[in-house]
Order: sequence, then C-alpha cells, then structure tokens
Amino acid sequence: MTTKEKVLKLLQSRQGYFLSGQAIAEELFVTRAGIWKAIKSLRDEGYDIEAVTNRGYRLKVSNVQMDIANISRKLENEWRSIKVIYYDEIDSTNDEARRLDMEDYGAVLVIAGSQSAGRGRRGRRFYSPKHSGIYMSLVLRQELENVPTTNITGICAVAVANAIDRVFFKGDSVTRIKWVNDIFLEERKVAGILTEQYIAMEDREDNRIIIGMGINISKPETGFPKEISKIAGAVVNGEVPGIQREELIIEIVKGLRYYLKNKEESLRTYREKSIVVGGYVKINSFAKMDRNRMYAKVNGITEDYHLAIEYEDGTLDELSSGEVSVVKY
Ligand code: BTN
Repeated sequence: MTTKEKVLKLLQSRQGYFLSGQAIAEELFVTRAGIWKAIKSLRDEGYDIEAVTNRGYRLKVSNVQMDIANISRKLENEWRSIKVIYYDEIDSTNDEARRLDMEDYGAVLVIAGSQSAGRGRRGRRFYSPKHSGIYMSLVLRQELENVPTTNITGICAVAVANAIDRVFFKGDSVTRIKWVNDIFLEERKVAGILTEQYIAMEDREDNRIIIGMGINISKPETGFPKEISKIAGAVVNGEVPGIQREELIIEIVKGLRYYLKNKEESLRTYREKSIVVGGYVKINSFAKMDRNRMYAKVNGITEDYHLAIEYEDGTLDELSSGEVSVVKY
C-alpha cells in the first residue's frame, strides 16, 4: 500500500474526526512532509480533506456519506467502551472483526462502505456493492456482555427488523422475519445476519461474538446479480441520505443492547414477525435428508428460537439450525 493509500485508510477509519499530523506520522511511520504530500494528492483526486492548525486533518463527509463521528458520539454516550471504525472498502467486516485488537474496548462496531468478499450463511457470498447497503459487524466480548449464544441470532433479527420499521416506516411493523434471521419486506429479503463466535487460539479468554449485518438500503446501481435477483430487495426506492443511514445503525446497535437484556420482549416480537409460523416449509439441510421428512408444518418458535415443526406423518420435532423455504399452497 502506498503512503497515500495508508493516509486515506486512516482518515476514513476516523471519518469526521481530526487526526493530528503527529498521530498519523506515528501510526504510519511516515515523515510529516510525506503526509502533507499524500494529503495534497488526495485532495487533487477530489477528497475533501480539511487541515486546521493545532488540530490536524479531517476527511469531511458529504450528504450521501455517513458522518461516522456522529455515530460514535451517539453510541459512546450510552456505551462508553464501544469503538466505531469505518472503512470505505474492506474484504469482510466479520473478518476484520477477528483481526482487531480488542484489548482496550468492550465492543467494536466495524462499518464498511462496501465489501470485496462479503460472506453470507452456509458459505455463500453476500453481495456488498458501494452506495446501496450497510455492512457492519458488532463485536462483543463474551465475558463482558454475557451474550447468550443460543439465541443471539434471533435477538439480532428482531433488532434489525425493528430498526428498519422505526427509521423508514414511522414504527409500523412492516418487516417480517424468516427463520432464522433473514429480514423480509414485501416478499423480498432486505437484510441478512451472520453471527459467528471466535475464540483466539493463543488466548482462550479472547472469546468474541461477531454479529455481521448486511442491509440492502437502496437498489444497487447495476441491480442485484442474477442469482439473487428474484429474492433480494431494497428497503427503499432511491437514494438514502447519510443521516438516515446513521440513524439506522444507531437504532440497530441500541436495539441489540436493549433486546439482549429484554429477552422476553425480543421473543414476543420475533414470533409476531415470523413468516413461517402456521405455514408449511421445505427443510433444506446439509445432512442426508429423509425423503419422508422434507416438508413440515411450523407450529411455533421455541424459547431458544428453534423451529417447532410437525412432519407429514404427525411426528413433532425441533430444528435448531439450518434453512427452510416457505412452501406456498
Ligand atoms: C446471510 O444472509 O446469509 C447473512 C449475510 C450477512 C452479511 C453481513 S455484511 C457484514 C458482515 N460481513 C460479512 O462478510 N457478512 C456479514
């Protein structure tokens, strides 16, 4: 990476904040003159970088861009040990969440403008182009937050679905949840969640819960790729201002914190928003399928967010993981 690219990456990670020349020089092992040269050529490329004596440099945010400093400020007000990091582009925020040094923080929120290797559940790719989605991972330290790993996935789905309702639909409950944690709006998937647990090999006490969330806010400039074009959708038609995106991120994180502490309310909302309860599903499992047990009626959602099902022969069962498709009759 060139010095210019390194400087840009650093400014983007603290977008909206001033970084002193000294701090940049120390972080990147570059002379002050080298930094100035990099800033100058970034400006020539069109980046709006402010330079103020005694404060340093700041990458300004435009109307469509988010003001990351605003997100940090608002979240840090309620959650003092959280740190917010932003990248214009990254491979995957979930992967960055593993690489982070978490020592000084209780939680970290990694946000990206786009992902070159966004990951979905079951090894799938998650299409993450710039300007249209929000891609972020909230990293929690298991020992600090006492996160219930068994039902974290369902809790996240509720937080994301509710936040979309509040920010874009005046609080009307329009989003639905497809077990386990796909968020739907008018029969289109608008958000997906990938929760992962990571325990560092070299330090077993470093036990992280990584909650990766991908939300298609508006339609990608070139549309969705063919393989997902029939199922993927966007929360709104047209462009969404940065300020509304900021609001959504703040609502999601606040909601997650709230529902982790208010588990009954989370479960109630999940059940209310469920697409599958009362209907029939086809079970798509990795394991060898029993042909007689491919279809089932969904009787409900258990306290652990498992799917309570009834096979065609009347046998009752519970699914704790996997994927189902809704069957229409
Ligand atoms: C799914 O629907 O299968 C889950 C999609 C999860 C996508 C998010 S985007 C942010 C985070 N980083 C990733 O690589 N994946 C998750």
